[in-house]
Amino acid sequence: MFRALRKAPADPIFHLNEAYARDPNPRKINLSVGVYKDSEGNTPVFGSVRRAEERILKAETTKKYVGIPGSREYAEVVQALLFGPGHEIISSKRAITAHTPGGTGALRVAGELVKRISPQARVWVSEPTWPNHANVFRASGLAVETYPYYDPATNALTFDRMLTAIQAIPEGDVVLLHGCCHNPTGVDPTPDQWVQIADSLAERGLVPLVDFAYQGLAEGIREDASGVLALCRPGREVLIANSFSKNFGLYNERVGALTVVTSSQRDAEAAFGHVKRCIRSNYSNPPAHGAAIVTTVLCDPQLCAEWEAEVEVMRNRIDHMRQLFADTLAAKVPQRDFGFIREQRGMFSFSGLSPEQVGLLRDEYSIYMLGSGRVNVAGLTKDNVEPLCQAIADVLGTASQR
Ligand code: LMR
Repeated sequence: MFRALRKAPADPIFHLNEAYARDPNPRKINLSVGVYKDSEGNTPVFGSVRRAEERILKAETTKKYVGIPGSREYAEVVQALLFGPGHEIISSKRAITAHTPGGTGALRVAGELVKRISPQARVWVSEPTWPNHANVFRASGLAVETYPYYDPATNALTFDRMLTAIQAIPEGDVVLLHGCCHNPTGVDPTPDQWVQIADSLAERGLVPLVDFAYQGLAEGIREDASGVLALCRPGREVLIANSFSKNFGLYNERVGALTVVTSSQRDAEAAFGHVKRCIRSNYSNPPAHGAAIVTTVLCDPQLCAEWEAEVEVMRNRIDHMRQLFADTLAAKVPQRDFGFIREQRGMFSFSGLSPEQVGLLRDEYSIYMLGSGRVNVAGLTKDNVEPLCQAIADVLGTASQR
């Protein structure tokens, strides 16, 4: 079976992490995988999560299955977080939520659900997007297409081209949108643009699939849901894949959810059965611990307040590092305008560096970022910003002399 097998290509994100771990340079800097780090370069367990875990361990009496879609309590807290407590979608019962292993698990279940219900549908992703999107949807048996999103010439959203492209997508196809903190560019639509996107999708009969992995990291928990809410008008169908890797720091617990918003309670119940079939033939039941943490925190007003404050600290540190990155680049590379970095949001910045420049930074300075020029801003500290920007200045100087 394996004798004629060629090597599979390495994952463009995780392989950088591995290369970083092997690099003996003591001055190496890791800005690759999207993991939050504090000012000391650590990724600590949230205090609210620790306290929830203590309670869970004390109260736990069994390890029995949580059921194919996870618990009802978890589904309720997820919906309250996405839509706001008491939202029309919740009271009309036109959405169902299934607990999945991480946001990637949610995307995969969404892909399989689409393939099951609408086998000819294609999934349209932004150009550029998270490199794993195409893998996940192709593995679900779906064809993947792209729509324009980011203009490297202006380092901004190419909104008119995006809208024109959406208006030409065949009815019934699925359009993937990033709920906030677009990965990899850090460039999001404005609230007004979200409304126009929602209008175009509705006019064309397209189904939005929202990848919502960074709620709380742009402006705030509720504020960051405004794009999702613009899509979820009465009667509209929307798929939402959310993740608690980033905003709860629960990376290795693999906890996320797929929420299917339909136009009626009847449709939601019908969809739920198909979601469960997709899960059962895939991983059968989700792992319990991460969802127990999220449920415990969000159901307890004190723990919830503590968690929100922790998300705020994380958001503020990322913002601060982004501004410091832009300031230091302005000082070190005055001939080039990096001001656009200030406008980006969330964990990532698109630096505008070419794959060749990124390669030089890795090979000559042990600085690891994605080939697309994506920088994990949360990996910056006040100690590594200066050597990073000096290296970028050197590499740009070398490139301009060639
Ligand atoms: C990233 O984009 O770096 C993160 O979402 C981690 C991942 O799974 O790729």
